[in-house]
Amino acid sequence: MKYTTHIIKNMFLNFFKNHKHKIIKSSSLIPQEDSNLLFTNAGMNQFQNVFLGKIQYPFSQVVSIQKCLRTGGKHNDLNQVGYSPYHNTFFEMLGNFSFGSYFKKEAILYAWKLLTHQNWFNIPKEKLLVTVYYKDQESYNIWKDIIKLSKENIIQVKDKNNQKYESDNFWQMNETGPCGPCTEIFFKKKECKIYDLNNKKQCIEIWNIVFIQFNKINKNNLVPLKTASVDTGMGLERIASVLQNVHSNYKIDSMIKIKNYICKMHKLDAIKNNISINIITDHIRAAVCIIGDQILPSNDNRGYILRKIIRRALLHGNKLGIKKIFFYKLVSITIKSLKDFKEQLQQKKIYIENILKQEELQFIKTLKKGLALLRCYIKKLKNNQLDSKIIFSLYDTIGFPIDLTKNICYENNIQVNEKEIKNIILEHKKNQKNKNNNCKSIHTIHTNIKSKFTGYKNYKIITIVKKIFVNNEECQKISKNQYGIIITAKTPFFAESGGQIGDTGIIYNQKSFFKVNNTQNFINSIGHIGQLQSGMIQIHDIVTTKINLKKRILIKKNHTATHLLQASLQEELQYNIEQKGSFINEKYLRFDFSYPNIINIESIFNIENKINKKIQNNLIIQNKCCTFENAKNHGYKFLKNKYYPTNVRILTISNFSKEICKGTHVNRTGEIGIFKIISCKNISFGIKRIEAKTGTYAFKQIYEKYQIIENIQNTLHTDQNTIIPKIKKLQKNFLYLQKQNNILNQKIILVEKKKFMKKMINIKNIHFLFLQVEIQDSKLLKNIIDHIKKEITSGIIILFYKKNNKYIFIASITLNIKKIITAIQIINIIKKNINGYGGGKEELAECAGKYIHNIKNIIKNIQSQIISKIS
Ligand code: SER
Repeated sequence: MKYTTHIIKNMFLNFFKNHKHKIIKSSSLIPQEDSNLLFTNAGMNQFQNVFLGKIQYPFSQVVSIQKCLRTGGKHNDLNQVGYSPYHNTFFEMLGNFSFGSYFKKEAILYAWKLLTHQNWFNIPKEKLLVTVYYKDQESYNIWKDIIKLSKENIIQVKDKNNQKYESDNFWQMNETGPCGPCTEIFFKKKECKIYDLNNKKQCIEIWNIVFIQFNKINKNNLVPLKTASVDTGMGLERIASVLQNVHSNYKIDSMIKIKNYICKMHKLDAIKNNISINIITDHIRAAVCIIGDQILPSNDNRGYILRKIIRRALLHGNKLGIKKIFFYKLVSITIKSLKDFKEQLQQKKIYIENILKQEELQFIKTLKKGLALLRCYIKKLKNNQLDSKIIFSLYDTIGFPIDLTKNICYENNIQVNEKEIKNIILEHKKNQKNKNNNCKSIHTIHTNIKSKFTGYKNYKIITIVKKIFVNNEECQKISKNQYGIIITAKTPFFAESGGQIGDTGIIYNQKSFFKVNNTQNFINSIGHIGQLQSGMIQIHDIVTTKINLKKRILIKKNHTATHLLQASLQEELQYNIEQKGSFINEKYLRFDFSYPNIINIESIFNIENKINKKIQNNLIIQNKCCTFENAKNHGYKFLKNKYYPTNVRILTISNFSKEICKGTHVNRTGEIGIFKIISCKNISFGIKRIEAKTGTYAFKQIYEKYQIIENIQNTLHTDQNTIIPKIKKLQKNFLYLQKQNNILNQKIILVEKKKFMKKMINIKNIHFLFLQVEIQDSKLLKNIIDHIKKEITSGIIILFYKKNNKYIFIASITLNIKKIITAIQIINIIKKNINGYGGGKEELAECAGKYIHNIKNIIKNIQSQIISKIS
């Protein structure tokens, strides 16, 4: 095959490399920390802050092949997957980007050349048509005058419903963030006079070229960016379907292997079952890659999406009649088909398989549990309609699929209110969205002011206001109660970076007072983000900037402790751990790192010990500046995926710790006081997270634990030396008593059995026992019933006892009489008459209720029912 996906990818990268683009690796499916996306949904995500002008990137022309997932937010293809041959949740996006370098003309020329030139993709020019945003005359002219497309092949696309920028040709990353007009290239699948762009039988979109010119701050507010950029995206699977001439993403080389495997494994007809097989094929790729990027199935955020995808695939498996667990068995073929990620995923294969297997087993349990609950609800129904809230809560609490509930209801002639369910789901989604949107709003301001950071040594300085922004717009002043960003010539405020949170504090002069809630970097400017509480601050005002020193001191302790932790981990684990992230605030520190083995309690203790020793040694923390290369060559630790400037600050703690770091630190380790690890856990494949506290917070942690131990000692009347032997003794005693109890129970069973049997009556050759008993233990009573049943052929046993003002009934039958009456029927009769609740099965059922004055009549009623049925 000439154009395999692998070849297409290489050609794409080479084409742009030849045109002076730097090849950048795909980022993770999990977006960078300050993104408000759940999953990476486009190639441009990793450059979001570059487009917004927040960071300067070392290259102005780059090319990448990005793993993407479109399962929510502005770009959600989940519901189309399987039904549409051209939609996937997980896909790879080929993209070239210009950050203020080339613009519309070059971007269009590049795309056209790659698609149509005989040395490249060689698509006949007449097979392509393009769309442009109706206001983008420049792009229109380029297509018409430079590319020489006829007017019929350039379609101008308007806004939908007259809503400004709500157009297929105005691309937006999310509800907020970078956006701009775009021009799209379509492949014509057949000749038509006029093309319906949404009709995938006529044409499909293959390449989107976006001209990023705005930052969307909120629904109605688009702020022009200082530098216009280019972001292009071409779905690998779609272009492969064109170049391989197969008319479906699911038939391209990488996907067809998985499809064929599923068909072969379960002897399925590929055409008849096309949709379900497509869905499973798509979802296994997504699940493998999401888990590969360290997300586990769970009930919220990303884990929830993963769970949803897995469960959807499992339900389709169920629909296809696949009886055994199957999904995890597709991991191997999926990894093979994802050729370029193979190496990375292969290492995690068993891990991914295990997770999927567990999830599938758990889902089977959920289905069983859901079915049992649903049956209960159905039995309790007073009318013929199941409450929508119950349907939703089955889904929300245990994950029982709504469609399945609906199907079961329909099969049982029970009505459901589809509209009401839809509304409840919508309401829930809205709440979820609000929760998810709880991420930081993006502050984008453009300024070339270089703020001088003085906060390593000064905590309060007098300086001049250089810029003011309100609602991200540059202003001359900020007035009382307004929120905004103030930039000063100098500042002691540390802007959030390297895991350390931004400083808080105040900016003031005689007439005004601005409360700083956070501090962030905006390229070279340090932005104080907060609210003006009184007066008014104007550009050029002289102000005092003062940080919250108490908080900063606590942060410093935690930051230095993080360095000590990294060095101690390295030493104790004897492994080249790699930092994967950190978070440092005034209360605690968090450090994520790669380490594949278990960290036992002894190691944790050793690490704590090492750090506390370094604290007691009161070592000096030295810092100086040097070039990045120099630091690297001298073994200073740095983050592999981070961009560092030519000159960096290096931090040395004796000969123990060496790191490149801009953060704020204590002068000597003794200032940390004390260090205590509070947790160490696996957060994903091969990644561990340690959380720890220092100083007063650590002391408080230790003290609280100590108090708990004191409490236990007092309760058990023991002391520190004997507490463990005492607990062990109690455990031993408990086991002994349990054993004794079992022996006694066996004896009781035999005695009680005899007593009960004597009280049995005979109704038409059926042993019938109805009895109030002293024993208040359902388990034991059921045991006695089992023993009785072994000695009779046909029988009905109804026992009840009183406990805590309630009467508990247990009914049981020998199964040979189930046509006459079942245990659940008996319990239903009792339940109705005593206004109780309960349930069970044919052979055994129970219920409870408070009022039993009518009980004799009820039993008579049951007896006569039996008699009438037999006669
Ligand atoms: N960001 C645009 C898209 O995803 C182009 O890459 O379509």
